[in-house]
Amino acid sequence: MSSPIVTVETLKQQQNLTVRSASADIGLQGTIRVPGDKSISHRALMLGAIATGETCIRGLLLGEDPRSTAACFQAMGAEISPLNSEEVRVRGVGMGQLREPRDVLNAGNSGTTLRLMLGLLASQPGCFFTVTGDDSLRSRPMSRVVVPLQQMGAQIWGREAGKFAPLAVRGRQLQPLHYHSPIASAQVKSCILLAGLMADGETTVTEPALSRDHSERMLKAFGAEVRVDPETHSATVVGGSQLHGQTVVVPGDISSAAFWLVAGAIVPGSELVVENVGVNPTRTGILEALAQMEADITLEHQREVAGEPVADIRVRYSPLKACEISGEVIPRLIDEIPILAVAAALATGTTKIRDAAELRVKESDRLAVMAKQLEKMGVKVTEYPDGLDIEGGFPLQGADVESYGDHRIAMSLAIAALAASDRTTIFGAEAASISYPDFIETLRAIVGE
Ligand code: S3P
Repeated sequence: MSSPIVTVETLKQQQNLTVRSASADIGLQGTIRVPGDKSISHRALMLGAIATGETCIRGLLLGEDPRSTAACFQAMGAEISPLNSEEVRVRGVGMGQLREPRDVLNAGNSGTTLRLMLGLLASQPGCFFTVTGDDSLRSRPMSRVVVPLQQMGAQIWGREAGKFAPLAVRGRQLQPLHYHSPIASAQVKSCILLAGLMADGETTVTEPALSRDHSERMLKAFGAEVRVDPETHSATVVGGSQLHGQTVVVPGDISSAAFWLVAGAIVPGSELVVENVGVNPTRTGILEALAQMEADITLEHQREVAGEPVADIRVRYSPLKACEISGEVIPRLIDEIPILAVAAALATGTTKIRDAAELRVKESDRLAVMAKQLEKMGVKVTEYPDGLDIEGGFPLQGADVESYGDHRIAMSLAIAALAASDRTTIFGAEAASISYPDFIETLRAIVGE
């Protein structure tokens, strides 16, 4: 009998995932459902927590990151039913009514939890908060939200003059602001808009390119007065709006679907369907990049569910070609660059990724980490301050590789392993549970185990 393709070894908290080459005769087959969108899950919990009345969330992501958000808001008085993907009920405290927590708020590994929450904390008059996160989050830049919040009058203190968590916040009445963000970041935009909810007047964020717009959509659905100007990449919130609990249906996360789309595209003989994927245009850069690479991908049953576009996505194996990715598309595929780097390693020619310096301040330095791990698998990669050149189209060799505690790195390397010779072991694969707790089960299913 041949060895299984997917095996897992668990040592204390660490999981080492070994993946052998997938059979090129049968490829990867199956119909998959990915977990709920991480960005939408965070926002549904947060808006539910500050709205009046009850919010019902269907399809919530049960990963570690939304669990951090739920725990923080429970500590501030929101009532949240046990988390499950069927239905979670949130009884909100109402605007300006978050309770001062008795302990430090811990955002774990989640940048979205910490940055978005800061906007709400800074604008809660009279309350004192301390916030922190894990090792990775405490190394990630917070000045991108602290500086504009301070321009609104916020009182925030932290390590290195507020650059890094832990941070202390004394909430107060904030002034409205028109903030011209130097980076296209939905976390920055959303933080300022959430702070603007309680300011007296209109708060606008203008960004250099359009980042994901889930906050704008959901704030509107909860009853806030929000205007968007797609021409100038601006979003405005009118302070003083009341939010009312809603039903939120969370679509499947395109950032999680991306692993299977690339897997199907690079393993000969494959055909996969990923059902119920959110295809909000501010998130579909990955589909455009894969189309440029001549991947065989089709969208089926396109529909709208609770204000977000959704589709089923079919992928069939086809030889890939190198592509160039830079400019305005970057924020629309920011979390998919590690898995795109895997597609590039299997695509004929040199793929050039630029304008992606933001990757250096994600859960890990994703440019450096992907370059190093792909090199271990025999790929020639040149690193630039803001991107990578990846010379693709040569056979990948199985190797021992590292996740660096980063969920998207762990999963990207597992997909690369399917198309590499022999076997690859991914050390620290437990990181996948941040955004995709069932990743290994689905991996087993599509290889037929
Ligand atoms: C997110 C925005 C992105 C993304 C992150 C989730 C969000 O970060 O990388 O995984 O939910 O707003 P930036 O907005 O900082 O680029």
